[in-house]
Amino acid sequence: MEANKTTPRLAVFISGSGSNLQALIDATKSGILSAEVVYVVSSLRKAYGLLRAANEGIESFVFKSKKYPSPEAAGEDIVQRLRERDIDYIALAGYLSLIPPEMVKAYRNRIVNIHNALLPKYGGKGMYGHHTHQAVLAANEKESGPTVHLVDEIYDNGRILGQKQVPVHPDDTPDSLSERVLEQEHKLYARVLQKLIKGEYDLD
Ligand code: GRF
Repeated sequence: MEANKTTPRLAVFISGSGSNLQALIDATKSGILSAEVVYVVSSLRKAYGLLRAANEGIESFVFKSKKYPSPEAAGEDIVQRLRERDIDYIALAGYLSLIPPEMVKAYRNRIVNIHNALLPKYGGKGMYGHHTHQAVLAANEKESGPTVHLVDEIYDNGRILGQKQVPVHPDDTPDSLSERVLEQEHKLYARVLQKLIKGEYDLD
């Protein structure tokens, strides 16, 4: 797809592998997602997703909020960087740090997150990566699956925009469940973002 001025500009925030980042980039290329990923922000220098960004020729930035004189200074800097790049939407994809409130305010209803369980269950502090899947298995849930939601000031709290149920099998391990959920994350995220960009959610 030929990018032009009207193509929404997307920033993706990561901390790790960045498989969702890759899925979003691929969706922009196939036309499933009418946007361009133009900026990748990582909380960790060693995140593999930074290599994915480099391979795609996408600008990246390692954002370490603790390196700033205050949390407010960190928040203001990241908002300025996003504004300088005319970012329209932000997708959190495995980003493990807290989002500065300045950023939530500047991009209200335009920041989304993907979570690896069916919120509102199995969300909040400590519920990330394999911890989530372990909790789902320990509770003998019959279903799990990804959730995409708007981001507000509280972890995993914003309005749910999309979910996809997958079965939990009796012999599942966190690894096998993670694989099944991740496969659906990669499809769901682009679909929900596309609906958001097209104004298909009634947001106030
Ligand atoms: C995904 O499971 C996502 O739901 C969660 O963090 C993981 C990120 O994986 N928020 P990746 O870095 O996109 O591969």
